[in-house]
This record gives sequence, C-alpha cells and structure tokens, in this order.
Amino acid sequence: MTTAVKHLADKAAIISGGSGGIGRAVAKRLASDGFAIAVHYSGNSARAETLVAGIENAGGQAIAVQADVTKAEAVENLFKRTLEAFGKINVVVHSAGIMPLSPIADADVETFDKVMATNLRGTFLVLAQAAKHLPAGGRIIAFSSSVIAKSFPKYGAYVASKAGVEGLVRVLANELRGRNITVNAVAPGPIPTELFLKGKTDAQIEEFRKLPPLERLGTAEDIAGVVSFLAGPDGGWVNAQVLRANGGFA
Ligand SMILES: NC(=O)c1ccc[n+]([C@@H]2O[C@H](COP(=O)([O-])OP(=O)(O)OC[C@H]3O[C@@H](n4cnc5c(N)ncnc54)[C@H](OP(=O)(O)O)[C@@H]3O)[C@@H](O)[C@H]2O)c1
Repeated sequence: MTTAVKHLADKAAIISGGSGGIGRAVAKRLASDGFAIAVHYSGNSARAETLVAGIENAGGQAIAVQADVTKAEAVENLFKRTLEAFGKINVVVHSAGIMPLSPIADADVETFDKVMATNLRGTFLVLAQAAKHLPAGGRIIAFSSSVIAKSFPKYGAYVASKAGVEGLVRVLANELRGRNITVNAVAPGPIPTELFLKGKTDAQIEEFRKLPPLERLGTAEDIAGVVSFLAGPDGGWVNAQVLRANGGFA
C-alpha cells in the first residue's frame, strides 16, 4: 500500500478493481482527465503499484489501496485512505468483480455465494460509502454487464448479481435526490480481460467477437471513454441509467 500523503487534489476518484483490465484503463483515462486516482486492488498489488507509478510519471497523482470489497471495514478504509490522501472524493467507479461460471443444475452454492458477495454485496458496500462521502456534483458509476440480455447457460450467478447491481443503482439515484449526485451503471459487452478470457477456447472467443454488429470485441479503452463521459462535464444530466456499451451485442 502506498502510504505517503499526497497534495490535496482539485478532484479525486476511486477506481475499484483498478488492478483489473477495465479498471486500469478507467484509472488511466480519469487521471488524464485531471482526477487524482485511488487505485483499488484486492490481491494484485504489483499491478496496482505499476499503474500508480505510470500515472505519477505522466504528471498525475495516485495511490494504491488494498481492500476486499466483500468486507465492510475494508471498503470503509478504502474511502478513508482516499480522503486522507486527496482531501475529497468526487467520483467513484466500482469495477471490481468476478465471473466464475457454473450451470444452475450443479447447485454450486459456494460459487453462487462468492459471486453474490463480491459483485452484489461489494457493490452495496461501495455505493453506501460513496453515498456517505461524495459532495454535490459527485458521480457514482457501477458495473453491470450486457450479458444480462443474453441469459447464456452457466451465467446464472453472474447475471443475478449484475441484475441486482442495476437495481441498487436506480434506488440509490432516488435516495440521493436533492444532493446533485448522479448514479449510473455501465454494462459492457465482452472485453478481452482476464475475467472474460478465463476458461474460453479461441473458437468461443471468436463466437463472441462476431456477436455484435460491429464485429469486434470491445476494448477496455472503449469502456474507459464511456466512464469518462459519465464522470465528466458532459455526463451531468445522465442519472439512474444503465449505459450498455457493447457494439450492439444485445
Ligand atoms: N471483461 C468483460 O467482458 C466484462 C463485460 C461486462 C462487465 N464486466 C464487468 O466489468 C468489471 C471489471 O471487469 P474486468 O474485465 O476488468 O475484470 P478483471 O480484469 O478480472 O478485474 C477484476 C478486478 O476485480 C478485483 N476483485 C476481484 N475480487 C475482488 C474482491 N473480493 N475484492 C476486491 N476486488 C476484487 C480484482 O482485483 P485483484 O486483481 O487485485 O485481485 C481486479 O482488479 C467487473 O465488474 C465485470 O463484471 C466485464
């Protein structure tokens, strides 16, 4: 964990799952948009520290903070550390998530519970802290998935968790009435990160590539651009929405 206290920033963002494929691209993009960045990670400290160094070398500010998003205290600490470092939190992008696949008939309740704890409980805990700490003008962006519309076999736990995320986002947008804070979700189509590629054959990846009319997989940078819009000056009137960024996948 980076311990040095940084200069107070004009605007700061927490990127959960910053050590992951999409989170890393979002962190780089928001850093270039002028945000000081708290790069959150779970197990992959090396990737988070490399990203912090990259942002600092490019003239930005960043810290790395470890937290298991299933644990309330750890999520509280993520926000506390960010406030200590930058003095404020204007944007929260919650990208941490997992996607182990298992047919419902296997009744693999251990996997189901893990997916729910990470993707749904984790989102609940992050949104709760965001609601507590963000000032007027704040932006909260969670991650759903465009796979919800496909209901592919084996995606039961994952689809259920992301459907829950979409529900939480809409409810929180209503709860924050009067505070001038937007709450949205981005629902990407397939992006070739570890989460998507794990366990897939080249032939399966090719099938996914051909699904959207744009006939390619998305890139993490495609998604970072969407997040940058929602977090930036042009995104202020978008609230309580799920933005499906998927090349027409669904
Ligand atoms: N890739 C896609 O095709 C796709 C499509 C639709 C939606 N999404 C969503 O986009 C988000 C980012 O996915 P990605 O593709 O970037 O995945 P990824 O590359 O596998 O990264 C996942 C991130 O989640 C973190 N994480 C996992 N379990 C955690 C836990 N218990 N506590 C805290 N952090 C945890 C990982 O941290 P460590 O590596 O440090 O352990 C990593 O930073 C996810 O919510 C995913 O569901 C992805």
